[in-house]
Amino acid sequence: MTEERLQKVIARSGVASRRKAEQLILEGKVNVNGKQVTELGTKVTAKDEISVEGIPIEKEKLVYFVLYKPRGVISSVKDEKNRKTVLEFFPEIEERIYPVGRLDYDTSGLLLLTNDGEFTNQLLHPSRRINKEYIVKTEGIPDRKKLDLFKKGIRSDGDLLKAVYVKMKSVDRKKNTAIIKLTLHQGKNRQVRRMFDAIRTPVMKLSREKFGNITLEGLRPGEYRELTPQEVADLLQLAK
Ligand code: URA
Repeated sequence: MTEERLQKVIARSGVASRRKAEQLILEGKVNVNGKQVTELGTKVTAKDEISVEGIPIEKEKLVYFVLYKPRGVISSVKDEKNRKTVLEFFPEIEERIYPVGRLDYDTSGLLLLTNDGEFTNQLLHPSRRINKEYIVKTEGIPDRKKLDLFKKGIRSDGDLLKAVYVKMKSVDRKKNTAIIKLTLHQGKNRQVRRMFDAIRTPVMKLSREKFGNITLEGLRPGEYRELTPQEVADLLQLAK
């Protein structure tokens, strides 16, 4: 769960400026989970109950979105090279959302965003078996044997990269390209690209079509929608 400095959380709740919040902490007017805290560096998480002069501060509402990320956008909240980030698709959202995992700059498709650290931890935990479905367009047509290697697992930089499902959707023999559907449980960095690198088949396009029960239905690139409470509950159930 994301930890933040106590004064920052107080300031965000609107009760006081950052400086005033620091003063309140030093004066012993802030309690965390019922205990007085006077240390400025104290870290808190969304689970902690914070009160200022005996009054609990209001917590940020938890929000959950699905974005159809276009290619050429970075999956983080800031980019030191000033490239477009996924947050730019949410100009009117006040909550401090961030992506649940990431998609590469050149990958398009389904990206979840939230401000719920616990939800993020649950979904990204390596032991969870949530289906993530990808569609890959390749240069060259890999044979069945090569694709079968994906199910056995392929070693790459110390990781065993596996797919739970692989299907050749279509081939274009004239253009020498193929469309392949791949379902993963794992979510290692650049996993799909590394798997195709390992069988020496260049990836021309990569898109994530599904994350658990969530699809891109009804969304165009750059559009997002809020998840329903049922969808959030179902995702957490899948992560159990
Ligand atoms: N695998 C990749 O290689 N890239 C992504 O963005 C997602 C999965």
